[in-house]
Amino acid sequence: MNKPTCVTIGSDHAGYTLKCKIIVHLRECGVDTVDVGTHSTESCDYPEFAHAVCKNIQEGVTELGILVCGTGIGMSIAANKHRGIRAAACSDTFSARLTRLHNNANVLCIGERVVGEGLACDLVDAFLEAGFEGGKHQRRIDMIAAIEQSQH
Ligand code: RB5
Repeated sequence: MNKPTCVTIGSDHAGYTLKCKIIVHLRECGVDTVDVGTHSTESCDYPEFAHAVCKNIQEGVTELGILVCGTGIGMSIAANKHRGIRAAACSDTFSARLTRLHNNANVLCIGERVVGEGLACDLVDAFLEAGFEGGKHQRRIDMIAAIEQSQH
């Protein structure tokens, strides 16, 4: 799968600096970004930005999203509360690739306090370049969706 032409990206204050670097990297790769904030290192609440990225995906503005906070974990927890969102916090490229291939993840979460800029850009590339394999993995995604439906 080729990289998408555009992704939605968001961060809190703890992920802001890395988010800016990822945006530059993506631009150099020819990938546009819809940046839903935050727009400074002033303290803010990560669920707000997780919600903004997930909303764009749910509404079809972009197919994939990237979220950056201190660890990537809070963002992934918040994002996974959204219907149809499969978010994965990754700090190794194998997981970033496999979560697309097997989990059809649509949001990559990264921790600025966990990974450096170079690895973060590699994570983004691995995530965006991989495509869902389908097959038996689709059955498992369907099972996750059924759990999601049963909760509401
Ligand atoms: C903010 O201090 C930090 O808690 C947040 O960025 C994130 O790491 C939460 O999971």
